[in-house]
Amino acid sequence: MTETLDLAMIRRATSNCKLVGSSDAPIEHHASIDSTMNRASALADSGAPEGALVVATVQEMGRGRRERDWVSPAGGLYLSLLLRPDEGMLRRLPVTLLGGLAVAEALEAVGDVQPELKWPNDVMLGGKKVAGILGELTKDARGHRLILGVGVNVAVSPADLPPDLSEIATTLLEHQAGPPSLEAFLASFLERFESHYLAVQRGGGATILPMAWARMPLFGKPIRVRMMDKTVTGIASGLNATGGLVLELEDGTRTVVVAGEVEVIEPK
Ligand code: BTN
Repeated sequence: MTETLDLAMIRRATSNCKLVGSSDAPIEHHASIDSTMNRASALADSGAPEGALVVATVQEMGRGRRERDWVSPAGGLYLSLLLRPDEGMLRRLPVTLLGGLAVAEALEAVGDVQPELKWPNDVMLGGKKVAGILGELTKDARGHRLILGVGVNVAVSPADLPPDLSEIATTLLEHQAGPPSLEAFLASFLERFESHYLAVQRGGGATILPMAWARMPLFGKPIRVRMMDKTVTGIASGLNATGGLVLELEDGTRTVVVAGEVEVIEPK
């Protein structure tokens, strides 16, 4: 039977957290919801502080980046976390990159896998996506608010993913006999994420970029990056200080991309 979370399990998983569920920040669990993003946004509208957390067992209208759907059957971890980063924090590193890194680290800590990151923040197993991160940044009277959405196919049955995603999406169940408990995975993810977030907030976090880059098997590879308005090709050479992807172009110059879909160009 597919394991599902309940509020008591989520509270246990957050018991060592400094930020999540801190002071009067609410923690909610929903058996089914349209999208945890909508609920976290409503909580923010009603003045919820940083650290408010919404978790769902199933989402009816989960959403991904670039207006895609995020299929969300039971067995996955679907959460939205309300953050209120200051200007300095936003200038340093993308919070979504911290989220992707924390998911990869948590999968490795409690599972039997070595996840990679597909820049900027998709989490991959065996070349297919196992988790996605969404960041929705807006401003209200209290300043910036960022809702971090995290969707991880932890114990999702492969049969519950749409057949047209079989080439690009995977679940942890396809990579190990029994998945870790959702509670253990949630606790590990929150511990890793908070550690990165609080380090960057304090102006530190110098080790985060090398840790993320080490999980991106791109160095020296020819890649294509599709952006909203153009596509660039070049050799991937690293991340810059703010998490942008550095490419060496054919004419010997360098460019940095801050958002886009990366594809490795396979030799013909
Ligand atoms: C992506 O496209 O890679 C991002 C996917 C983000 C999915 C998560 S699941 C929890 C939260 N609620 C949503 O509707 N989306 C995010």
